[in-house]
Order: sequence, then structure tokens, then C-alpha cells
Amino acid sequence: MDETAQIRDFEKLLKETIGLSMETVGASVIRHALKRRMAACTISDLHAYWAFVTANPAERQELVDAVIVPETWFFRDREAFGAMVRHLREHRSGDRPLKLLSLPCSTGEEPYSIAMALLDAGFPDCSFQIDAIDISSRNLVHAQRAIYGRNSFRGDDIAFRDRYFEACEGGFKPHDIVRRQVRFRLGNVLSAAAQTGPEAYDVAFCRNLLIYFDRETQGAALTRLRQMLADDGLLLVGPAESGLPPLLGFASVRFPRAFAFVKAPAARATTVEPPALRKPRRAPAKAAPAPQAAAPRPASRPFVQKAAPAQPSASSPDRADASLTEIERAADAGRLTEVHAAAERHIAEFGPSPDAFYWLGLAHDAADAAEDAMRNYRKALYLAPDHQRALAQLRLLQQRLGDHSGAKALADRLDRLAKRSGT
Ligand SMILES: C[S@@+](CC[C@H](N)C(=O)[O-])C[C@H]1O[C@@H](n2cnc3c(N)ncnc32)[C@H](O)[C@@H]1O
Repeated sequence: MDETAQIRDFEKLLKETIGLSMETVGASVIRHALKRRMAACTISDLHAYWAFVTANPAERQELVDAVIVPETWFFRDREAFGAMVRHLREHRSGDRPLKLLSLPCSTGEEPYSIAMALLDAGFPDCSFQIDAIDISSRNLVHAQRAIYGRNSFRGDDIAFRDRYFEACEGGFKPHDIVRRQVRFRLGNVLSAAAQTGPEAYDVAFCRNLLIYFDRETQGAALTRLRQMLADDGLLLVGPAESGLPPLLGFASVRFPRAFAFVKAPAARATTVEPPALRKPRRAPAKAAPAPQAAAPRPASRPFVQKAAPAQPSASSPDRADASLTEIERAADAGRLTEVHAAAERHIAEFGPSPDAFYWLGLAHDAADAAEDAMRNYRKALYLAPDHQRALAQLRLLQQRLGDHSGAKALADRLDRLAKRSGT
């Protein structure tokens, strides 16, 4: 067997074990990890290493550890923690302790940030428990040792370090009150055994993992998370992953820049998509707006029209808005055939619109029609260069197709956009 075919076997093994998709991470990552592990085991022949890995679960774990991306830091994408607090305040019922999940937790910065955010918000330590799960045993050793260097404290606002950490040899260590809140466990988001305990989670963080999976594995992971989440639970994903949950039965909760979702039926039954949030797109109401109406529009909808002067309810802009709202609802509920047809109707009736092209792209994307998806995302971006969701989806698509430099350029564009919008 030649080397390329052998490496393909390792790619397949890693895909089956942790869901890692070669199209997204790139073959060089695997080659590099193999080189390191073979050197550590003093095995020079790929074939011999294959025999060793397949017969030896401990070495398989070492290979997983060599290949994963552990990048994380405290309060990464800070808005997610604010959204969590707000959601728990609004939805908490009964006295049972709240259950939160950080999966993947990497080296612990995310679950400890959850604990600090909840303590800061006045939740007593006995009122919540965080399960922190990762597939990397090496990361979990680091997380439990809990000594963090400068790289874990990024950004301007690190005042939390003074409140919750003490300096120690090698860095800073969280106080016991923070550490006690988190239970670490080895686990795989794709395995049925990932759940800890009988109750469902009130909040699940699954950030910066789905991006390394192919579409099928993303679906499997989101299905698992859906099962693990309480009916009114909140799911938080990473910025580049925010286009995925709506394809799989989740509805977006419009906490700006939090990338937060609930299960779609709950979204329709509760205030998650409050009509008040959509008010600025239409004539201002006479009555005082609901509290949410004052919230800034999420950055993911930068192109939303400003409030128009009062118009008759059946005016064309109103109908166009209503049509887009309907398309979004269908997308949130996973009715992609309907999204496709409705977006085409929308364009025929109201003319080109970035939103409609975005939804059309998403429908094609879900049907694995990559070229059509890409064409429509590009049309959306031609009309609205800052269309964040089109950028994020196009980036994911390019990654899946192996266009890493294109995906990187889009990632940079998204970063610049985030900075410009003041974050
Ligand atoms: C980039 S870190 C994300 C950490 C944190 N959630 C954040 O956003 O900062 C990705 C983590 O995913 C873990 N991982 C990869 N595949 C996994 C799987 N199938 N199940 C659980 N964890 C996995 C890796 O070990 C790594 O620690």
C-alpha cells in the first residue's frame, strides 16, 4: 500500500473516532501529528504504526491529542456568557440546581468562565453545576491542574482575574469556589454516553468544534446536543458555526453576537423570537415598545432596513418583510424545500434582496448543491458586503470544499466586521 493510501486510513480512523473532517482541517495536520507520534513511539514505518494504533487504545488517544486544536481562552466571545445569564434569569423555574454543559471544554477556560459569570450574576454556588467534557485527555489534565498563563487571558477586560484567581508558579489558578463548580469528564460529542446524569441541560456551550466536522457529522453532533438539552434550554455555538443549528431544528435567539439557539418548537411557543424585535422593520407602533425592542439589532443582520415612516399595512415593503420573516421561520423549523421555493418567489415578486439570496444559498447548501449555494451566497454579498450570515456560511462551505485560503480570507473579513461593530 502506498503512503497516500495509508494516510487515508488514518484520516478515516480520525473521522470515525472524533468526527474530524480532512476537508476542513487539511491533510498537513494529520501528517504532522503522525510524524510526532511515530517519533514518540520510535516507529519509523507507517504500516507498523497503523498496527500499533489499531491494537492500542492508549496510543489512539495520543494520536487524537496530537491532532486536535485546543485553542481557547477565558470569556472567549464574551456576549455568550451574558446571553446565558439572561436566559437563566428568564427561564429558571423551581429550586433544582441548574445544569450547564461545556462540550468541548478544552483546557477548562470556557467552563470556568461560565462559573465566574454565574457567580458574578449572583447565582449562589449551590444553585448550579457545570459538566465539562472533551475528547482530549491531555486537555483535561491541564483543565484539572488549572494553572493558566498569559495566553488564556486575552482582551482588555481581565478584571475577573483579580477577583477569581491567585498567582502561583507558572501562572494563575482559579479560586476553589470556581473550580468546585466544574466536573471534568472525558467524552465524545458524537457518542451516546456523553450525557452526565438523568436531567437535561439548561444551557449547553458547544463552541468552535462543529467547524472541524463535515456536514453529516455536524448533523450528528447537533442531534446529540438537542437530546441533551432541556426543552427550553439554550445552545451556544461559535461565531462561524451560527448558520448550522437553524438547519437542524434550532431557532435563533436574538442576543447580539451570542450565537444562541433554542429548540425550534420552544422558540415558537415562547418569547424567543419576540415580534417586538421585528418591529423596527415596520411602522413604529403607537404603544411603548416591549423591552426587547430597544435592543440593538444583532450584528448578523446588518442590512436590516431602518424603521420606515408609518405605512398602510399591505404596502410592498411590509409584505416583503413579512415574506422574509416567513422564510426565516421555515428555515428555523428545518423546512428547507419551503425555504427554497419561498425565496425564489420572494425574488420574483420583490426583486433581488441579500436576505433572499442568503436563504436560497442555505437551502442549496442543505441539499449539498455546493455550486448553487456558493453562487447565491455571493449574490447576497454583492448586494450587502457585510452580510454576516452569508459570510459565515460561505466560509464553512469553502472550508468543506478544501478552499482554505478562501475560507481564511472570509474569516478575516468576519473578524474585521466584528471589530468594526465595536466588539
Ligand atoms: C478549539 S477547542 C474549543 C474549546 C472551547 N469550546 C472554546 O470555544 O474556546 C476544540 C476542542 O474540541 C475537542 N474535540 C474535538 N473533537 C471532539 C469530539 N468529537 N468530542 C468532544 N470534544 C472534541 C478538542 O479536544 C478541543 O479541545
